[in-house]
Amino acid sequence: MTSKDYAMTKSKAILRQPESYRESRLPPGVRPLRRPPAAGRAVELAFLRWEKRELARTERFWRDFGFHIVGSSTQILVARGAGTAPCIAVAEKGSTNRFLGPAFRMSDDTNLASYVERFGAAWLPFGAIPGGGKGVSLQDPSGRSIWLLQGQLRSEPMALRAPTTALTNTAQHAPRVNRTVRTPIEPARVVKLGHVVLQTVNFQQMAEWYLQVLGLIPTDVQYLPDGSPNLAFCRLDLGNEPADHHTLVLVGGLEEKYEHSAYEVIDLDALGQGQQVLRAAGYSHLWGIGRHLLGSQLFDYWRDPDGFEHEHYTDGDLFTADHETEYSPLTFGGIWAWGADAPASMKPRKDLPTLLRVLRLLRRRVLTPQRLKLLGAALDAPARPWL
Ligand SMILES: [Fe+2]
Repeated sequence: MTSKDYAMTKSKAILRQPESYRESRLPPGVRPLRRPPAAGRAVELAFLRWEKRELARTERFWRDFGFHIVGSSTQILVARGAGTAPCIAVAEKGSTNRFLGPAFRMSDDTNLASYVERFGAAWLPFGAIPGGGKGVSLQDPSGRSIWLLQGQLRSEPMALRAPTTALTNTAQHAPRVNRTVRTPIEPARVVKLGHVVLQTVNFQQMAEWYLQVLGLIPTDVQYLPDGSPNLAFCRLDLGNEPADHHTLVLVGGLEEKYEHSAYEVIDLDALGQGQQVLRAAGYSHLWGIGRHLLGSQLFDYWRDPDGFEHEHYTDGDLFTADHETEYSPLTFGGIWAWGADAPASMKPRKDLPTLLRVLRLLRRRVLTPQRLKLLGAALDAPARPWL
């Protein structure tokens, strides 16, 4: 036990603060994540692309979740946040409900044409990008479509109420006197698209591809009991400008899957009022409110009407490009510092479809029995003494 852990006085239960190591001081056996040289540099997660069978249902959820709708027709739905991005989400009408892929804004000095030669990218047709500009479409190793953009217009930020944080009374500092906290009961106004999390069966290959294509920096890497990396929280390389702890997260698992996307809101009161509004509207709550460990965000997770997970967050960590990558063991309990218990549905299911999928992966040798065992060992440990 370390000084960071806490032993209960009346039981043997211990709340543990997970250990973490800088990349230059890795313990023996922990392997660093390979980082191929960057082909270009992403400077923003611009928007996410969806295919939806019922656009009206998606539009209702987007409004209640705090997006601002800027285009709505029978064929396409476009939304923005209150920040400067002209678009954070696009849904096209189609025959299935699925996540199509992310679009990233690339730095001006990135050579988009080089992606056509090196990565088999294709130029996007004129007018395909909300907010204009040019871009290419390419496929990641799992076959998912990724757009890389340049020259999109910026939008005028929308007016927001003042955050409550500047007037937060603490034991040491009490700036709020003769005043109350009365934030409006309204959807949590989404300011920006923060990050997207993708699960993959081929973590190593996918992580190297995304680090190379987008020039990302791994902020936190989590490893299995054999020391092999299996999860990477990656941030944008913005040089000396602070960047969110993570903009893209890749996690090794049993399928190629959109996990969730996350949207920054004004403050904790917006997160809480937003939760009330979504509850009142009858949506399916998934997890929260709590604080994440890696990234430190205060979070609240919801499912859209088609079952896709969306996160509201506020108060996340920011790092400049020179901050060193940290490594820690992968555990289920390590995804939150405190707050509501993470639902078991966030772990791989132990049902027949999962078993069949695992058998297929083992047969194709994408997954080895050893790796499956290590994944189980990492995720099955009790997340908290009461779980
Ligand atoms: Fe998240």
